[in-house]
Amino acid sequence: MKTIGCLLVLLGFAAGSTLTRAPDSSVNHQILDYIQQHMNISADPCENFHNFASGRFQAVHQRDDCYSIHGAVEHKYNTRLQTLFELLKDRIFDEEKPSIEEKVWRYYNACLTTSEESRSEKHYLELVPPDEDLTWPQFAPKGTDWPQKPFRWLHTLAHLRRFGMENSLIRMNVQPNVKKNSSKFQLVLDKPDVERFEDVSSIHLLLLSLGVDKKKAPHMASRLIQLDSDLHTLAEEYDESRLDCTLAEVQNRTGLQLNTYLEILFNRSLNAGLLPVEVGNMEYLESLEEFLGTYHQQVVVSYLMVQFVRFVKGLDGSASADSFKCTTAVRSQLELASDFLYQEHYLGQERLQKSTAEVQQIFKAVKGAFEVRLEQNHLQLTTDEISALKQKLQAMTLTVGLLPTNIDQRRFVTDFYGDLKLDRNQDTDFPRAQLKALELRTRRVLVQLNGAEIKGSGFFLLTDSLPETNPEPQFQVSGNTVVLPYDFLQEPFFAPESHDVFKVSLLGYMMARQIMLSFKPHFLPFDANGYYGEVLNSFDERSSYVEAISCLNRTSTYDLEQRLIDVEGLGLIYDVYFGQNSEFEQKQPDFTELPLKKLFLLSFAQMFVGDEEFIVYSEVDSDKLRLSQALSHLPAFGEIFSCSPASLLNPADECRVW
Ligand SMILES: *[C@@H]1O[C@H](CO)[C@@H](O)[C@H](O)[C@H]1NC(C)=O
Ligand SMILES: *[C@@H]1O[C@H](CO)[C@@H](O)[C@H](O)[C@H]1NC(C)=O
Ligand SMILES: *[C@@H]1O[C@H](CO)[C@@H](O)[C@H](O)[C@H]1NC(C)=O
Ligand SMILES: *[C@@H]1O[C@H](CO)[C@@H](O)[C@H](O)[C@H]1NC(C)=O
Ligand SMILES: *[C@@H]1O[C@H](CO)[C@@H](O)[C@H](O)[C@H]1NC(C)=O
Repeated sequence: MKTIGCLLVLLGFAAGSTLTRAPDSSVNHQILDYIQQHMNISADPCENFHNFASGRFQAVHQRDDCYSIHGAVEHKYNTRLQTLFELLKDRIFDEEKPSIEEKVWRYYNACLTTSEESRSEKHYLELVPPDEDLTWPQFAPKGTDWPQKPFRWLHTLAHLRRFGMENSLIRMNVQPNVKKNSSKFQLVLDKPDVERFEDVSSIHLLLLSLGVDKKKAPHMASRLIQLDSDLHTLAEEYDESRLDCTLAEVQNRTGLQLNTYLEILFNRSLNAGLLPVEVGNMEYLESLEEFLGTYHQQVVVSYLMVQFVRFVKGLDGSASADSFKCTTAVRSQLELASDFLYQEHYLGQERLQKSTAEVQQIFKAVKGAFEVRLEQNHLQLTTDEISALKQKLQAMTLTVGLLPTNIDQRRFVTDFYGDLKLDRNQDTDFPRAQLKALELRTRRVLVQLNGAEIKGSGFFLLTDSLPETNPEPQFQVSGNTVVLPYDFLQEPFFAPESHDVFKVSLLGYMMARQIMLSFKPHFLPFDANGYYGEVLNSFDERSSYVEAISCLNRTSTYDLEQRLIDVEGLGLIYDVYFGQNSEFEQKQPDFTELPLKKLFLLSFAQMFVGDEEFIVYSEVDSDKLRLSQALSHLPAFGEIFSCSPASLLNPADECRVW
């Protein structure tokens, strides 16, 4: 699902206000106000908690165009970054030693000042030819033939892959080798999983804008639609069948010159024959060369060209620019630099340490509560299985921020972007800067193949996908860790000095959900170190599990596992706060009349404030349904809100899985 964040611009708004807090309003009041302003008290909590807790969210956030709590978090984070970038304008930089601040400023400024014309799709193609000494067909000099040298689609694919286009014709990624030894990385090859082309007329228009001859464009557009459609059919033909082999074996079976592909990609000679490769779909790869052979070369190269244009135009800051969009572009394309600067300039070491200590404590409490559940052994597992799961749980860590925490972060970030040379005279060519940043980032992802993954307190993992627009804690199986982005460590979502009820209910719930996610059947065979073991395989076929989870299936859902995580996550975090072993403040706070338990649930419910009307839900459960399901399986809910036994959210029989 791709929920929408916040779209509109808030020029200048909050620029000053985020820096200082009004002295007379305590942080608890601030958070409470934030929650209460979203409530619709005319709604019945026992029937529609979504409306009750967040019915006014949309009205309140109309101005900043936010549709979810994640959008609101991101919006606030980016607004602060934007303020910071604006401040950098007045900094005098050392010409000799380009600092990370200067690079970020150049990137941001290039995004802002580049003209509409210079950010055209055509310009990206001018900067990235399909191969050395080869142009895109429409750029061939008049009166000369294309290709100027033999065209090889796999070479072009490699050239485009250098910029991070990882999902066209062949999907290729470098990932921790979680099956064998997740300290090492491996190549993963698979069929692509990419959206279909739009209709002929939009491809036709696109081709014209790329400089394709008016006479040739209509025919080419229909050929491209045909190829795209045939390719999707080909990809759907084969079932997934994962296979571990070497690169030489893949070459042998598919006839694809993958060694050359890698040499182009890494820009050095390689002898990669023995490299371990996980192949997602061998049959697809086996048929690809022959399939593409049935198309005219100009069609194949144009197909790659259109894929590349779609890829770069999909990046933040490519289409049009204002200061907020450009901030988002920096945030996404220079994510480590952004995180570092945010930490340096807003969070600060002291506050970061305080927040980190708090979230670590909550994380530990959630683990403790889940351990108690494991011991209760509701699913009737063997003693060995329980002990394996407990080890896995105990070893799980929480990583705060994207950067490794046990090193000099400024040096790390400076080295990371060391090769990013943003020319002072090219401030008005954002596509060029973008491609440089993408190429560097991609290289950093790919070189992980040579190294070992850093686990433990130095955990750091770079993946091909640019940061998500909706920040959320994320479980990384290879490091057995939950990564919490900085975004959430800001008021009114989290404040270390606020009342426990706020800290545990929202961020605590998000962390509890990630722990539940790491105990999905798919992740169970991975041990404490993130290695794939043999225990607890095929857990989703166990009768005790099937029976337990089918209880959650009584109300239909698109995603039963997500429901499991929603429901069990709430049960868990409620236990953490109100259970027997709770270490958290139970006294009624003096800043509100709202009973503590109600406050807890209202704060928790913010996780689900998404306004359905504005979000394209395709085959996913709505936030309203997810919230009702989570609450209706919480035994304490009915009593807290004095719901009658007949009310929707107070059923007689709640389900429990773990
Ligand atoms: C608040 O809830 C009432 C009762 O369900 C509903 O009629 C009204 O439209 C809601 N208001 C908003 C702003 O959603
Ligand atoms: C995994 O690889 C690392 C790095 O090469 C090595 O130190 C470690 O012993 C290996 N672990 C296992 C379980 O094979
Ligand atoms: C590749 O195929 C050939 C002929 O089928 C065979 O002799 C050779 O051993 C194969 N090489 C590998 C690495 O599988
Ligand atoms: C590839 O490496 C060579 C030699 O190290 C270098 O001159 C060239 O610029 C590199 N090409 C790319 C595309 O990075
Ligand atoms: C859940 O219910 C649907 C039909 O409503 C069914 O197709 C599916 O197999 C069920 N899943 C489980 C795990 O019971």
